[in-house]
Amino acid sequence: MHGIVAQVESDISYRWRADLTDAELAALTASHDGQVQPGWWNRVREHSLGWVSAHRDDSSLIGFANLAWDGADHAFLLDPKVRPEYQRLGIGTELIRRATAAARNAGCEWLHVDFLPHLRGFYFDACGFRPTDAGLIQLRDA
Ligand SMILES: CC(C)(COP(=O)(O)OP(=O)(O)OC[C@H]1O[C@@H](n2cnc3c(N)ncnc32)[C@H](O)[C@@H]1OP(=O)(O)O)[C@@H](O)C(=O)NCCC(=O)NCCS
Repeated sequence: MHGIVAQVESDISYRWRADLTDAELAALTASHDGQVQPGWWNRVREHSLGWVSAHRDDSSLIGFANLAWDGADHAFLLDPKVRPEYQRLGIGTELIRRATAAARNAGCEWLHVDFLPHLRGFYFDACGFRPTDAGLIQLRDA
């Protein structure tokens, strides 16, 4: 297993604010059965503090994490995703590690995230987030 992980790691590069297309993001979202909204990335990109992407050596997109922010102290981690065939190899953790460093470099003091319960281990144990009080209002029916 370690050999496979090492081989995969050596074939992957990580980029900050790479020039990604809406179609690439849509394909990545579809790969894990996420909800694809055409035009989403084109609408969101200009409001981001930045984003981290993971690429295979042929440059194709296999992982992504976006950072929104308040223009000052608070950054918000949104939409981390890794192609299913590349999951559980440490790529998600590395995307978040790099996003955390980027938010710190941008002068933010806090990085926020929320997630479904089954991902507690990923965010708390692998990525270093700690629990906090937070609030939520559902604005339309599920
Ligand atoms: C969540 C996600 C980004 C994690 O990416 P990843 O590259 O698989 O994560 P890592 O390999 O770095 O995982 C590190 C550890 O986190 C935990 N973890 C990761 N994914 C998990 C999952 N789906 N369920 C439970 N624990 C998980 C495990 O402890 C894992 O270590 P292990 O593989 O040694 O058991 C990926 O599962 C994904 O894209 N999911 C679909 C989209 C999604 O739900 N995004 C999150 C929105 S909040």
